[in-house]
Amino acid sequence: PTIHYILKDGSSRSVDAKPGSSVMENAIRGNVRGIDAECGGSCSCATCHVYVDEAFTDRLPPADEMESELLDGVASERRPGSRLSCQLTVTAELDGLTVRIPETQS
Ligand code: FES
Repeated sequence: PTIHYILKDGSSRSVDAKPGSSVMENAIRGNVRGIDAECGGSCSCATCHVYVDEAFTDRLPPADEMESELLDGVASERRPGSRLSCQLTVTAELDGLTVRIPETQS
């Protein structure tokens, strides 16, 4: 499945993602800037914040309590599509998933 990342400058990067990996891991692997992921994916840093495109928000499992709590503390504004990308697992059904990188992670 392909994931599209919209960067802060408005340009986009597409990464061919492995099912079972996270949206955060694919950003790092694809050298997508703007996802810091300081904790390495253990859902404790909130520096892997992304805005999921409206077309996909309903197709993702909802944020669990821990993710939701961390989302309250993200550096950029929390919006309805806000998620922590390390908690989003890539599946074949998510082909074309589009996420926007927020202005800042810290
Ligand atoms: Fe730290 Fe996602 S990488 S919460």
